[in-house]
Amino acid sequence: MLTSDTDAYYSPGHVAQVVAQTVERSRLKSVIDSHCGRGALLDAVEKSFPKIHCAGIDLDGNAISHLRKIRPHWTLVRGDSLAWTAWERIHRKLGGSVDVAVLNPPFSMGQVKGVNIELEGRVLRGSLAMAHVITTIYHSNPTRVVAVLPESTMFSEMDRQGRAELERLYDVEVVAQFKSSTFRGARANSLLVGMTRRKRQRAASSVEKAHYMSLHNAIVRGGLPCFEAVSLRHGVPFVHSTDIKDLVRGEAKESLRTVRPFTRGIVNGHMILLPRVGVPNKANIGAWFTEDDVQLSDCVIALQYRSERIAHAAAVNLRRDYEALASLYRGTGARYVTVGRLSEWLTNARNTRTYAQL
Ligand SMILES: C[S@@+](CC[C@H](N)C(=O)[O-])C[C@H]1O[C@@H](n2cnc3c(N)ncnc32)[C@H](O)[C@@H]1O
Repeated sequence: MLTSDTDAYYSPGHVAQVVAQTVERSRLKSVIDSHCGRGALLDAVEKSFPKIHCAGIDLDGNAISHLRKIRPHWTLVRGDSLAWTAWERIHRKLGGSVDVAVLNPPFSMGQVKGVNIELEGRVLRGSLAMAHVITTIYHSNPTRVVAVLPESTMFSEMDRQGRAELERLYDVEVVAQFKSSTFRGARANSLLVGMTRRKRQRAASSVEKAHYMSLHNAIVRGGLPCFEAVSLRHGVPFVHSTDIKDLVRGEAKESLRTVRPFTRGIVNGHMILLPRVGVPNKANIGAWFTEDDVQLSDCVIALQYRSERIAHAAAVNLRRDYEALASLYRGTGARYVTVGRLSEWLTNARNTRTYAQL
C-alpha cells in the first residue's frame, strides 16, 4: 500500500449504472473489478448482463467477507491488485483474460509524487490510479475497460507515459465527467473513461505520434521553481511567466536562460503559454512554437495543440473569452489557476467546440 488512505469511496448507484451502460457489449462471459469494494460496479453490470460471471479483488478483508456472504456465486479475492499473487488466484478460476474490467481504483497519492508501473521488462512512471488501470489490463487483458478515473489521468504530465501505453493497446475516450461532489467523503474531479482493445496494437513510434496528435488540448503544468533552477550551459531553455510576453512577440528562445531539466513540465510543439500565478495579460495570449524541449517554471502552464493553425484559433478564442478565463484565477493572496479548473473550463460544453475539438 502506498498511502494510509484505502480510498473506500464507493460508487453511488447512478455512477454504477452509467458504468454498466458504458460496457456496451453483448455476449459477455466475465467481468472483473480489481478494487471491488462493496461490489457496486459488479452489481450494476450483473443486473444488465445476468449471465455474466463476476470477479472482484479488494485489499479490504471486511468488504470481501461481506461480498462472500451476499454474492457467494462471485469469484472474490482479498489481496493487493498491484501484486501478482492476487491475480494468480483470479487466473486459477477464470483463465488468463476477462471480457470486461470495470474500475474505480484508488486515487489518493498522499505525499507520493508518482509510482513505478512495472510492465514486462519496462517501468513507467505514473499516478496510483494509472498504475491500477495498467496493472489490471496487463493481468486480465479485457476487450473493454470502463473506468472512473481522476481527471488528471487524462491530462497530467505525470500520466503522459501511461496514456501513451493505454493508447497503444486501446481506443480511449472520455465518456462523461463527474462533479467533485459525486463520491461521498471525497472531493475529486473525475471522468468516466471507456476503452476498447484494438484489433492490432499500435507500434510504439506511431503511439508517440498519435499521442502527440491527441495532445490537442493537453495541459502541462510547469514544474521547476525559479529558486531551484540550476543554470547549465547546454541545458534546456527555461520559460518563466515573465518570459511569455517576449516569446509571443517573437523573441528567440535562445534569449532564455538554459537550465538543468526537471522531471515535470518539459514541452515542445505548438502551444499557448499562460501564467499559473497572476492573471494573464490579454495581449500576451498567443500561439507559440518550439521544436526543441523547453522547461516550464512552476509558474507557467502550457496548453498544447497539434498544429499552428489550431493554436492560433485557440488563442483567438481565449482572447475573445478573456473575462471568463481571467475569472478562473482565484486566490485570497495572489490569484492563480489550477490545471483542474482550466481543464474543466476548456472541456465544458460551451468551450468544447472552440478549444478542444482540434
Ligand atoms: C474508490 S473505492 C471503489 C470501490 C468499488 N469499485 C466501487 O466503485 O464502489 C476503491 C477500493 O479500492 C480498494 N483498494 C485500495 N487499494 C487497493 C489495492 N492495492 N488492491 C486492491 N484494492 C485496493 C479499497 O479497499 C476500496 O474498496
